[in-house]
Amino acid sequence: MQRVRKVVIPAAGLGTRLLPHSKAVPKELLPVLDKPGIHHVVDEALQSGIEQIILVLSPGKEAVLRYFQRDAELEQSLLSPGKERELEAVRRAAALHDSVISVLQEKPLGLGHAVLMAKQAVGNEPFAVILPDDIVEGEFPAIGQLIRVFEETGKSCAGLMEVPREETRRYGVIGGATSSRPIPGLEKLRHHHERLYEVSAMMEKPRVEDAPSNMAIIGRYVFLPEIFTCLERTPRGAGNEIQLTDSMHLLLESHGFFGWEIHGHRHDAGDHRGYLKTQLRLAARDPELREEMRRLLARHGDGT
Ligand code: G1P
Repeated sequence: MQRVRKVVIPAAGLGTRLLPHSKAVPKELLPVLDKPGIHHVVDEALQSGIEQIILVLSPGKEAVLRYFQRDAELEQSLLSPGKERELEAVRRAAALHDSVISVLQEKPLGLGHAVLMAKQAVGNEPFAVILPDDIVEGEFPAIGQLIRVFEETGKSCAGLMEVPREETRRYGVIGGATSSRPIPGLEKLRHHHERLYEVSAMMEKPRVEDAPSNMAIIGRYVFLPEIFTCLERTPRGAGNEIQLTDSMHLLLESHGFFGWEIHGHRHDAGDHRGYLKTQLRLAARDPELREEMRRLLARHGDGT
């Protein structure tokens, strides 16, 4: 079985839900506590054994790649006493420059199309996909959980979470049955024997009455390279875009597909409310900020 060595991170979107900020700054670079959101998901990939990061960017979003590049002049200017913390942060991002490459999506034709742009960079091997709007906290990296599922089953898989039925229309939703097959390395996770799903259907943003279940797909996937052939065959779907979920359906029919209910807490940092909540939740758990946050919220809010 080939190892999962590469991750594709689509970061080509217009960021409509985060306007007006995203008009001038790629939303992936907005700070989430001490580093840009994209750096959080890159760290998740590296902690999961991924070696190469393939960013899919659109024209005008070159700054996302620049964030991971060396800036000798800036580092030089930070070589003075009192700037150690800043220097370390700049170096930490630049240390990744050998691992990060980018490909271009020239036109906004959808998430599926964005992933297809990485076909050559991925080549003929299994690979992971992380959607950077979804930041997942947890003791075991989310994409690492899916890599374990892939290694055990040999099949493509997607991260899942349970949502209230009325919210299913905001997500890709699967239908299927749980499988109690154990996944080596994940036995320690709570309810591990109820997390694996053998997927039998998938729908992108279904109407509530059509949703095959209330198990929603979150932005974590591992694919066999055959997904690229499926993407090439996928006609435009919802929103007149090439939808990743539609091509996953084709892959399911030819090669099978698993879902895994991710152990961890997923934050949607892709709109204003979600972004704010992500910041607050992470700050409330950060050892350095926890006390200050608690006092601030106790004084000015109800603290929840
Ligand atoms: C995308 C996917 C959807 C998935 C969601 C998770 O939708 O198309 O299947 O459930 O991410 O965050 P988007 O949020 O880009 O509309």
